[in-house]
Amino acid sequence: MKTILVTSAKGGVGKTTTVLNLGYCLSIIGKRVLVFDGDPQGGISMSVNLRDKTLRGLINVIKKEAKLNEVILYAKNKNFGVLGIGNLESDDFECFEDEKQLELIKIVINKLKEFFDYIIIDSSYSMNSLLYTYMSVSDSVIIPTTLKILSIKSFPLVFKVMDKIRAEKNSGLALDGILITMYRGTEQEKNMLQELKKIIPEELIFKKMIAYSEDFETSNIKGVPQFLLSRNFDAKRDYFELALELLEREKNEEVDKDYAELF
Ligand SMILES: Nc1ncnc2c1ncn2[C@@H]1O[C@H](COP(=O)(O)OP(=O)(O)OP(=O)(O)O)[C@@H](O)[C@H]1O
Ligand SMILES: [Mg+2]
Repeated sequence: MKTILVTSAKGGVGKTTTVLNLGYCLSIIGKRVLVFDGDPQGGISMSVNLRDKTLRGLINVIKKEAKLNEVILYAKNKNFGVLGIGNLESDDFECFEDEKQLELIKIVINKLKEFFDYIIIDSSYSMNSLLYTYMSVSDSVIIPTTLKILSIKSFPLVFKVMDKIRAEKNSGLALDGILITMYRGTEQEKNMLQELKKIIPEELIFKKMIAYSEDFETSNIKGVPQFLLSRNFDAKRDYFELALELLEREKNEEVDKDYAELF
């Protein structure tokens, strides 16, 4: 059982896309996967047209208005479940600042660990107490990034927050890796990748990069994970290969380095 948080300090870098497609690929490899839409803006529920169906979610479980099994939606293959954060009323946002409520979120996520091989959490890019909560229940973090200078400049902030959580709440929090997304193979990107490798050990960067593909927009329009689209998109192969690399890395264990010293 493993809980992976997908996060970044920069918006629009492919977090939601990664959670959904990586999660789906792991599920077809035979893992039981729960994708948790931990972004109050509802990235996943929005992109898979589940907005209405995920009106009730984690927040309703915490408020004792629903049971967990009533708010998890399953795909046809049953290995792939989606849990929304729930329909938030303005008061509910306060709960994300309240220590006791955050503790309850932890309890619920820990409970879910009994039923799935992987829980993959999507988060927003803001470094708030909700993110701290997710980090404190997660085993590892994946940080998607584009090869753009502003995305890369945002790493130190994520590392700093991870350090704080490691020191105070979850000493075992690991970094699975940095995932390059929306890769077009331009000269500028290639140069940026070389620069990145000078400051981040290569083994902390997933070998598999996710290529830029218009197909992601198509899948957003259709409201399904990339993988469910029938054509043989390269992009869908990318996420499948990423899933295999992740499984391989887990076999080899400790990819994590002392990244705190990097910046
Ligand atoms: N490999 C890709 N190629 C082309 N477009 C992509 C790719 N990955 C994601 N996108 C598109 O980029 C946009 C942002 O992606 P996504 O929503 O996954 O990012 P995010 O990090 O979750 O954003 P936010 O911080 O707002 O939650 C979306 O329109 C998505 O379809
Ligand atoms: Mg998102």
